[in-house]
Amino acid sequence: AAPRPLAGRRVLVTSGPTHEPIDPVRYIANRSSGRQGHAIAAAAARAGAAVTLVSGPVSIPDPEGVTVVRVETAREMLAAVEAALPVDLAIFAAAVADWRPEVEAGTKKIKKDGSGPAPLALAENPDILATVARMAAGRPRLVVGFAAETDSVLEHARAKIARKGCDLIVANDVSAAGAVMGGTENAVHLIDRDGAVESWPRAGKDAVAARLVAHLAGLLA
Ligand code: C5P
Repeated sequence: AAPRPLAGRRVLVTSGPTHEPIDPVRYIANRSSGRQGHAIAAAAARAGAAVTLVSGPVSIPDPEGVTVVRVETAREMLAAVEAALPVDLAIFAAAVADWRPEVEAGTKKIKKDGSGPAPLALAENPDILATVARMAAGRPRLVVGFAAETDSVLEHARAKIARKGCDLIVANDVSAAGAVMGGTENAVHLIDRDGAVESWPRAGKDAVAARLVAHLAGLLA
């Protein structure tokens, strides 16, 4: 039988983009496909974990053997994440929109009125990873963040660990346009709290997910 190193563990994964509505027909989003996060959720389920996947809007199928909670906005994602706790391991692979339109979208489309573009004021979204990583009570034993950077990948990842309070960052270089975000392959570096770095060769997102899940199961054991 396949090894089930996460048997008896509860795992939470966030995946996909968030959509932040401007009005009923427009939104702010990003190029995340959800492929890496979904692959991690599937790999964790195969490893025997009880997995909740909180996913933003994606066009890929739900992974097998996983409880999927679909959300649209960052604030909905935070609420769904909080509802899924407690867990042993939380992996934040979603590309959460940093900002949302400050004014809540109404039911009416914003019209062109000939006086130039409508002003779009933005408000900062909650940082879901930092919120969970800094929980006083009920913090998951292992909190893993992702970093999509286009430059100084390791430097930014180290700063991110300190800023967010997570245990590990999985950093990828998204500078090669389209190669990672929306693509099927990933090349990642793992950076821990002590600053230790492990760089993995480029591989399919499924292979990266399986290796990551095995690595995290080892840390939990
Ligand atoms: O700060 P930055 O967006 O680069 O951090 C990326 C990491 O933080 C990812 O793990 C992402 O899922 C998480 N994040 C989050 N909530 C936000 C922004 C980022 O959980 N509002």
